[in-house]
Amino acid sequence: MDKRRLGKSEIEITAIGLGTWQFSKGKGLVGGFWKSLDEDMTRAVVKAALDGGIDWFDTAEAYGRGNSERSLAAALGALGMSPGTVRIATKWWPLARTAGNIPRTIAQRLESLAPWPIDLYQIHQPFSLSSVERQMNAMGDLVQAGKVRAVGVSNFTAANLEKAHAALAKRGIPLASNQVRISLLDRSIEANGLLEVAKRLGVTLIAYSPLAQGVLSGRFHDDPGAIASVTRMRRMSGSINPGTLERTRPLVEELKRVAAAHGATASQVALNWLVSRWGDTVVAIPGASRPSQATEAAGAMGFALSRAELDSVDMASRAAMP
Ligand SMILES: NC(=O)c1ccc[n+]([C@@H]2O[C@H](COP(=O)([O-])OP(=O)(O)OC[C@H]3O[C@@H](n4cnc5c(N)ncnc54)[C@H](OP(=O)(O)O)[C@@H]3O)[C@@H](O)[C@H]2O)c1
Repeated sequence: MDKRRLGKSEIEITAIGLGTWQFSKGKGLVGGFWKSLDEDMTRAVVKAALDGGIDWFDTAEAYGRGNSERSLAAALGALGMSPGTVRIATKWWPLARTAGNIPRTIAQRLESLAPWPIDLYQIHQPFSLSSVERQMNAMGDLVQAGKVRAVGVSNFTAANLEKAHAALAKRGIPLASNQVRISLLDRSIEANGLLEVAKRLGVTLIAYSPLAQGVLSGRFHDDPGAIASVTRMRRMSGSINPGTLERTRPLVEELKRVAAAHGATASQVALNWLVSRWGDTVVAIPGASRPSQATEAAGAMGFALSRAELDSVDMASRAAMP
């Protein structure tokens, strides 16, 4: 699968990157979502992603108050990578903060990730004490000061995306991306205007939770008892329950059927479909808590689905959506 340009920025990335929320070490507001991984494990996960051809990583300040950023940086260092050989996307947390916090905290982000530079700096979600325009101006200042290469947003609506794009365009900076939930079980981008606006403005959509937090791998269908092993927060947010398994079983069976023709897995077909269905507009950042999952994620770029396969998965996905 060819590399893609991140929005209209100069940055090129593989169609699949690695999400590293899983590296939070159980800390912070959202860190308790995943079981804690030690440094040996995060290094093994990062190695598997790199070995498989993944060339970029998504992290955030909010993932364990910088733990994910630090673990990622440590893993890349231990693996002998040099700055500039991989792309790094991180995020500023806007809740209860003003845009003035953006220049005040950038040094912390750069320090957590050091020596890896920030290629993409994203506003994590739309709830800030400052307007979109003020936040974009602060982000634009960082680009102009050479502290980050490109600017993105996350969880922005189509209307907010247009606003953010217009504010940065006044500075001659393209808004590179909007990171939102997209999977075969959540295709709201097709109905809420985001896909149309992103295509029109040349903004990349970065799909988070692309495996519906593991549901699309089929592992809970194969072993429903495994539901009990995931955190309550994750069961609730991902609707990982017997009703979901029943509703989505035909989709997972279709994924497995298509996968068999490619010597692939259900997860790989789910990811491949996501980064193929809408052309270059959507890239995906599956998370992994063990090396085999990162290997599988990278392997999703290794085959092409036929028109008929894209369509059959499309139909099964429509039937499985809540
Ligand atoms: N911007 C935002 O607001 C936002 C929100 C959510 C996520 N994100 C980003 O998106 C990334 C991915 O989203 P996500 O972690 O929510 O969901 P996801 O990628 O859909 O699911 C990841 C989880 O699925 C399981 N999994 C992965 N590969 C598997 C495989 N091959 N077979 C079986 N199970 C597999 C693992 O669960 P186990 O750990 O239980 O093995 C893994 O932790 C995050 O790491 C983060 O970087 C951003």
